[in-house]
Amino acid sequence: MIIRPERDRDTPAIHALTDAAFQDVPHSSGTEAAIVDALRDAGALTLSLVAEEQGRIVGHVAFSPVTINGEAGRWFGLGPVSVEPGEQRRGIGQALIREGLDRLRNTGAEGCVVLGDPAYYRRFGFISDPKLHYGDVPPEYFQRLTFTGAMPEGEIAFHAGFDTSRLI
Ligand SMILES: CC(C)(COP(=O)(O)OP(=O)(O)OC[C@H]1O[C@@H](n2cnc3c(N)ncnc32)[C@H](O)[C@@H]1OP(=O)(O)O)[C@@H](O)C(=O)NCCC(=O)NCCS
Repeated sequence: MIIRPERDRDTPAIHALTDAAFQDVPHSSGTEAAIVDALRDAGALTLSLVAEEQGRIVGHVAFSPVTINGEAGRWFGLGPVSVEPGEQRRGIGQALIREGLDRLRNTGAEGCVVLGDPAYYRRFGFISDPKLHYGDVPPEYFQRLTFTGAMPEGEIAFHAGFDTSRLI
């Protein structure tokens, strides 16, 4: 398996993979593939990595900028992240996330946030922090990983590409 940045021709495969991965996820909005497309179209797909196995794309992770108290900075949001249903629990998701976080850190990011299951994300160093919040989301599901700089405080907003009400 190799992990590499997406190429133009990967777009349909990433869309199909994202739809397939989220199909049976209980809290899925059903718009995750459209979110990835919207981020890309807006130039907000800061980092988009694919996992490729024998020429087939089996995993994908997206990172995009977030704001803190309305201010743009060097913080990013992780997700959506998707692994082909038949290939899950083989370490592909972890490999994609670790590579993505390394790349972000090496390009001067100050930190990353994620909305998701703490049981999964704590292995990468994500922790929930009551000083950093995201709407009404219970604090344990909203987590941050600080690379450098001061610990931020306040309200996070994801890129407008996540505004699913405009995508359905
Ligand atoms: C979540 C996802 C990206 C993880 O990728 P993966 O390649 O299947 O997972 P990995 O093989 O890297 O990691 C497996 C480990 O994570 C755990 N794990 C997998 N999905 C998990 C989840 N949703 N919550 C908690 N733990 C999870 C497994 O128990 C396993 O733990 P172990 O190593 O201690 O046994 C993948 O399962 C997926 O695409 N799911 C559907 C889409 C989705 O839910 N995306 C994330 C939304 S926040």
